Amino acid sequence: MQTGLRGRDFISDLDFSKEEVETVLDLAWDLKMKRAMGVSHASLRDKVLAMLFFFSSTRTRGSFEAGMAQLGGHAAFIESRTTQVSHGDTEKELGAIFGRYFDGIAIRHVDWGIGNNYLNNVASASRVPVLNMQDEIYHPHQCLADLMTIMEKKGRNLRRKKMVVSWAYASSYLKPMSVPQSLILQMPRFGMDVVLAHPPEFELMPEIMEQAQAMAKKYNAGFEVVHDMKEACQDADVIYAKSWGPLMTTHDQEEGKKIQDSYQDWYVNDELMALGKDDVIYMHPLPADRDIEVASSVLDGPYSVVFDEAENRLHAQKAVMALTMS
Ligand code: CP
Repeated sequence: MQTGLRGRDFISDLDFSKEEVETVLDLAWDLKMKRAMGVSHASLRDKVLAMLFFFSSTRTRGSFEAGMAQLGGHAAFIESRTTQVSHGDTEKELGAIFGRYFDGIAIRHVDWGIGNNYLNNVASASRVPVLNMQDEIYHPHQCLADLMTIMEKKGRNLRRKKMVVSWAYASSYLKPMSVPQSLILQMPRFGMDVVLAHPPEFELMPEIMEQAQAMAKKYNAGFEVVHDMKEACQDADVIYAKSWGPLMTTHDQEEGKKIQDSYQDWYVNDELMALGKDDVIYMHPLPADRDIEVASSVLDGPYSVVFDEAENRLHAQKAVMALTMS
């Protein structure tokens, strides 16, 4: 068991080794059981986490805030627009100053080409851990909860399980590509055969693809890219289908929306789910565009594990905070 996480940042999925991720999951299950039994687990008493948001959130805010309280500490919710960031506070100043007030700094910043740099710059100036609540490249805490959920449903040995990470149509906005990128980085390390499916214009970042291929090779897992959702979903154990913007093709919102609108048939319905194995599960980080990205009958139906997935955000994040901030 690798436990040397105290003081460490968690910005990219690969910041923690596979063995360290296993440690996080072991603790997450322990904390989940303790909460179920009403057993106190206040290992972060008197500790305070800053939660700095540059973008909206339901689950991330709720789970980090509740998690810190359950660990005996406190989480300070800070919206960037109510700070002096727009009046000149730099990442260096923020990291240096918040690092003296708080015991951890969690940040969500998904602006393309800005968010991940922002987190890394704060981390360079901070004496306390920086935790990524989602940037434009990675959503590592979501991915830990996803891995935890898959193991709960399919068992801890995931070797040769087929995981489809698919693009799906959405009309609401051009969503970040951080969730699929985190998934293709992390899941091959646990032996899952990943099939990434998307229309040609929705490629992921080339450097992330290279890293994912390297992980698949290192851990002897499959990694394949297809441009057909139905082909991808044949015999799947897990179908994780969500939308992301065509950000490798264009950053123009109008052009991106036009491209996106030409793939409305990339839709998750019962017919698509039936292509998977009998015990296939449907996953989505939420929020989803209901009846546009996924049919309500799937989202609310027997394939869906989305509420367990959302719950596991709480337990996985508590484990990360307890290990890094203690
Ligand atoms: N899945 C997720 O990160 O949800 P929120 O955007 O609501 O935080």
